[in-house]
Amino acid sequence: MGVQGEYDGPWKAMLKGISDLYGNRSNSVNLPKRMDLKGKTVLITGSSSGLGFAAARRMAKAGAKLIMAVRSGIPEKKEELIRDTSNRNVKAYHVDLLDFVSITKLLEDLERDEIKVDVLVSNAAMVPLRSRKTKQGLEEMFMVNYLAPFHLINQFIHRRILNIERGKIIIVSSESHRNAKGFEWEEFGRYHDYGINETVSRYGYFKLLLTTFANELSRRLDRQKQPIRVRVLCPGPVNSNIAREAPGWMQPILKGIFALFFRSPEKASDPILYFATETNSSDRPVDYLFLMQRKKMDQKAVDEENGKKLWELSERLIEKLGYSSRW
Ligand SMILES: NC(=O)c1ccc[n+]([C@@H]2O[C@H](COP(=O)([O-])OP(=O)(O)OC[C@H]3O[C@@H](n4cnc5c(N)ncnc54)[C@H](OP(=O)(O)O)[C@@H]3O)[C@@H](O)[C@H]2O)c1
Repeated sequence: MGVQGEYDGPWKAMLKGISDLYGNRSNSVNLPKRMDLKGKTVLITGSSSGLGFAAARRMAKAGAKLIMAVRSGIPEKKEELIRDTSNRNVKAYHVDLLDFVSITKLLEDLERDEIKVDVLVSNAAMVPLRSRKTKQGLEEMFMVNYLAPFHLINQFIHRRILNIERGKIIIVSSESHRNAKGFEWEEFGRYHDYGINETVSRYGYFKLLLTTFANELSRRLDRQKQPIRVRVLCPGPVNSNIAREAPGWMQPILKGIFALFFRSPEKASDPILYFATETNSSDRPVDYLFLMQRKKMDQKAVDEENGKKLWELSERLIEKLGYSSRW
């Protein structure tokens, strides 16, 4: 099967993450000494927890108007952010990325409030213990980690919620996008039963879909001479709540490993801050950072044929469900 690769089990994947973290750091970029996001509106999905919350706090500190698009933590996480940063320009909107109805409601709420977003950070993701079905009959991790970002980002462009003149789209992916051997085109969007042993390989596969989408999105924007920039990153291993569904016996072991070897969400959010504050981005339509290291994305994700095929299949699937992702 195409989605499997070298680092499929949770332990192997974790060891790979840790070895990458302490590996070669050539070609690194640096954060500016003073981070200034005054006058910029930033929206982050999944900013109730982990990396998203840390990035939101740092961007609010840098003066951004911050919009949290979250499933939980309203209002307490918003209040925490305001308390921590003294920035009162923080709003929170509810969205459950498992559900197209909820995504549509978010889009309508943002339109109603005439929100114009300069930086859209697509960060939310999940790692379930096993496959589950969404209301629309899709597999949950496929929906949250791939199809929902595809739909949401395209709708931000279509509805002009994203600032078309100077907008940036920052997509949180993972180095695990390199793991899958190939695409399962015949199976695309079909519900697939899996358990804990397959979770890691499917997580990597959905990050491959997300990264392939990012490249195709950038090509399509470029062809239409739209100045929107697409940025992709892997934060490295983060000491976050990502493994919240792991079995009880694994939790203390994981917590220990995360605390010892993984990066704090604050430190891990450096590449998000780099892309959000980057000013000379016009010469690079698409870019990828692993930690703060500029890298090439996997060739499967960059391949134009793959991008085109993925886009068509995604659009068709969404239309079958009664929604549209066209601009
Ligand atoms: N942790 C790592 O080692 C690591 C490594 C590489 C890449 N990443 C990526 O980093 C990003 C952030 O993950 P994290 O490590 O910070 O994990 P996290 O602490 O679990 O945060 C995930 C966020 O996504 C949100 N989310 C999940 N399902 C959702 C849904 N159905 N609707 C709306 N929001 C939903 C969660 O909201 P709730 O709190 O409401 O569930 C939470 O805010 C993800 O894209 C992840 O793939 C993480």
